[in-house]
Amino acid sequence: MVHYIRFLRTPQTDVNPKTIDVSAVVAVTTDLGDALYSKDLELIITVVEANHPHGVLHTDTAMWQAGSRALKLKVNCHGKYRSRSVRLHVTTKETLFALKMLDVPRIVDVWSVTFPLNEKQRTEPIVERQFFLPNRSRLRMWEETGDSIARHIWDAGLGFLLYFAQALSSSPSPGVSTFAALLKSNKVRRLKVLELGAGCGTVGVAFAQLVKCDMVLTDLDDAQEILASNIKCASPLAGSTIKAEVLDWTSGLGDSSNAKYDIVLVSDCIYNPDSSLHLVEILRQLATRTPNLLILVGFKRRHEADTIFFERMQKTRFEVKESINIPLPHTMTDQDTDAPMAEFYTYTFRPATDD
Ligand SMILES: C[S@@+](CC[C@H](N)C(=O)[O-])C[C@H]1O[C@@H](n2cnc3c(N)ncnc32)[C@H](O)[C@@H]1O
Repeated sequence: MVHYIRFLRTPQTDVNPKTIDVSAVVAVTTDLGDALYSKDLELIITVVEANHPHGVLHTDTAMWQAGSRALKLKVNCHGKYRSRSVRLHVTTKETLFALKMLDVPRIVDVWSVTFPLNEKQRTEPIVERQFFLPNRSRLRMWEETGDSIARHIWDAGLGFLLYFAQALSSSPSPGVSTFAALLKSNKVRRLKVLELGAGCGTVGVAFAQLVKCDMVLTDLDDAQEILASNIKCASPLAGSTIKAEVLDWTSGLGDSSNAKYDIVLVSDCIYNPDSSLHLVEILRQLATRTPNLLILVGFKRRHEADTIFFERMQKTRFEVKESINIPLPHTMTDQDTDAPMAEFYTYTFRPATDD
């Protein structure tokens, strides 16, 4: 399982005569929040100056114990730092090393919002995750601390980062070669890419930071604010553009957008059998407009119902060109029998005239 350091309570400051205390409560859990990290883990807690990411004002460590459900953190900053704008970063030694190596870490660390070292108010329930892509660009993703499906980062999105790294490598493995060939053949032209159910935008933003493209991130209305924040923080490749739009699969494409795309990306969107059927219909409408459309579906298998999507895709004349399972970074627990995988399927559409 990939684990994520989460704030159960976001940072709060307490001003004392000589120190300023920053406290928070964290847990180390999976993306669904259904399993806690089950081993001892040393957490590194750093108070960093907001405008100088290397300006460390205070560092401390705390032990997440096997069997913990939550861990209270408290660091005492020197009183001379009063009123400075800071962020709280909670990480592990291994995570810092993985990020330095441009790897996706098996424990994803967390950055708070900026807050002044004098305010007693708890910071907003929103945090930043950071990853580094193969071209060394930093992927910054804001997500909510609560249980929202859309405003939250999912394992499959991290699987896509590994997929893109393979597709862009000098020797792409067989399961990614169709996608890799499309990227290679379009070095000059800007690819037109659509992401469906983009959530926070991990997949689409990462793609636009790696490949020259016009990226349209779509999701329901309630994901638009977090998408806008993440587009604002993005570092698209020179020549790339990123924008967000509302696209509800249940409403269909409509006539308003006649845009044609080269690639459609779909990450972790097939868990609900009802909306899966609408999703396939949207894909059919898109593929009918653009005969050579390549669709990349990635997900982490969690439910029996996931198969409904694949059955409907087959019935709707979509063909799997290639598939691959990519192991996610993980810590094996006693309950795990296999390493967790992100599964990827590359689809093209077979028009009815083929018969
Ligand atoms: C599990 S999240 C995955 C988010 C993102 N793709 C990722 O991998 O991090 C599923 C996403 O599908 C979106 N979604 C669900 N039903 C939808 C619909 N009818 N139309 C558009 N998006 C929908 C949700 O809002 C959510 O963002």
